[in-house]
Amino acid sequence: MTPAGTTTAAAGTTVTVIINGMPVAVPRGASLGSVLHARSRALRASPAGNPRGLFCGMGVCFECVVTIDGQPERACITPVHDGMIVEVQP
Ligand code: FES
Repeated sequence: MTPAGTTTAAAGTTVTVIINGMPVAVPRGASLGSVLHARSRALRASPAGNPRGLFCGMGVCFECVVTIDGQPERACITPVHDGMIVEVQP
């Protein structure tokens, strides 16, 4: 039984994104930020080389900028789509 307000990743409810060249099945409708955070808390490195990750989670701080389909974008406010190509630094 699934608690009210939650979903499960059943057949047909996932999409495939390519993260650093690796295909990954992720829940349709998820934010890219949540997908990347579940895999690793570091999304990129600061100019000093320190790991950076999600901070605000709502599109304000730009700490989650990664390359999505060749463009720098905020992962936390970007929903995944099938065939999305993502490049993460760390
Ligand atoms: S975590 Fe702040 S803009 Fe994405």
